[in-house]
Amino acid sequence: MRKKYRIGVIGAGARGESFARQLFAGTKSAELFAVCDKDAVRLGEFMVFCGMKGVRTFTDPVDFFAAPEMDGVIITTPDFTHRDVAIQAMRAGKHIYLEKPIAPTTAQCREIIRCQKETGMTAFVGFNMRAMKLYERAKELLCGNPLGQIVHIEGLEQLSKEHSASFMRRFHRRRANTGGILNHKCSHDLDIMQWFIGHEHKLVKVGSLGGTNVFISQKAPAKYCSECPSATYAACPYKDVPGFVFPVRNSDRPLHHPDRITYGGDLCVYNEDKDIFDNQTVIMEWDHGVRGNFNLQLFQAYGRRETRIWGEKGFMQLIPEEQKIRLIRSSDGECTETVVVSEKGGHGGSDPKMLNRFVQALETGNPGDSSLAEGMAATLLAEKAEQSVLTGQFMSVDTAEYNA
Ligand SMILES: NC(=O)c1ccc[n+]([C@@H]2O[C@H](COP(=O)([O-])OP(=O)(O)OC[C@H]3O[C@@H](n4cnc5c(N)ncnc54)[C@H](O)[C@@H]3O)[C@@H](O)[C@H]2O)c1
Repeated sequence: MRKKYRIGVIGAGARGESFARQLFAGTKSAELFAVCDKDAVRLGEFMVFCGMKGVRTFTDPVDFFAAPEMDGVIITTPDFTHRDVAIQAMRAGKHIYLEKPIAPTTAQCREIIRCQKETGMTAFVGFNMRAMKLYERAKELLCGNPLGQIVHIEGLEQLSKEHSASFMRRFHRRRANTGGILNHKCSHDLDIMQWFIGHEHKLVKVGSLGGTNVFISQKAPAKYCSECPSATYAACPYKDVPGFVFPVRNSDRPLHHPDRITYGGDLCVYNEDKDIFDNQTVIMEWDHGVRGNFNLQLFQAYGRRETRIWGEKGFMQLIPEEQKIRLIRSSDGECTETVVVSEKGGHGGSDPKMLNRFVQALETGNPGDSSLAEGMAATLLAEKAEQSVLTGQFMSVDTAEYNA
């Protein structure tokens, strides 16, 4: 009979919720063994909010990783902890599912990769956009080479007010914690762009412009929302968007947690404590001459993405709102549309699929294309873009930078 894997979740926050719930509900092949969070208040709220009775809890990661019954762990702690938590887990003999981005810097990614090689544990990276039906189907179509030689790929991510507010208030507001908003949020898109053109191709050049145009500190009426003058608070477009501060997503006032900044959702979005950009544009070139661009914009009513790919034989457009892929042949303009049906479960059905793929990786000892090495390519691109904005220079990329 197939083994039922016992999986722990470390990081009882917004992202940990989705995996802990799925595992708690039980699958044929995996079950929730325990949840760990170093913050006892958050852990307590999490267990109550998710209704998880009878599940073991830990506030000390050392005790959590020491549990011999646990086969693997899903790491949903903030980016700046990924290196230490992943290394601790693998050294304790646990296989890992590591949330994206692997780490804020490529130097930290390399430390994780080297530890994986030393310990031989299975490490699987959570770029779940790859498991969304639309992107999966586009990748299948691209494998049939309908565009001929690819010339240019373009990505766009627009963030909702809710996401924007979350990034300005929480740990992601500081570049040191994530590597920047591009690495933290858009590593999904940077990964997809490189997955589409093929990870065997390496970047050679990256340039970027970015800055903060809207969430500027001169607009901050007070440090905390709870100290904001009522008339200003009432008129603030971000007052009712505590964002992804777990578990108060639907509350109209901030959560009162002892740590008001990180988990209170109480920090003014215009605070001066942040150094991430609120808009950024990137251009890039790979070693086979394919070029690309990516554009990040915030403050919008809803989030949306776009991907467009141009090749010698045609043009492909991904339209997530319509779950549609449009292919236009360059020879005669013939248009073919493929409509996909998104699957059930979190993130358009990708979360349950990613969990299953992780379990498959545990069975085979092979993460397939969700390896740390592939995952690092997104951080390398984001890091070069960040350096380009800060230096005002184009950044060149040496193939050796892909190595651990
Ligand atoms: N794949 C996706 O679509 C997706 C979506 C959201 C978040 N994420 C990723 O998930 C991770 C977590 O993001 P989030 O928004 O859930 O954060 P969060 O702040 O809501 O939750 C993180 C939790 O980790 C705990 N924690 C911090 N350091 C710890 C440590 N050393 N040991 C144990 N617990 C610790 C915190 O107390 C907190 O409860 C990030 O890396 C983020 O990029 C991925």
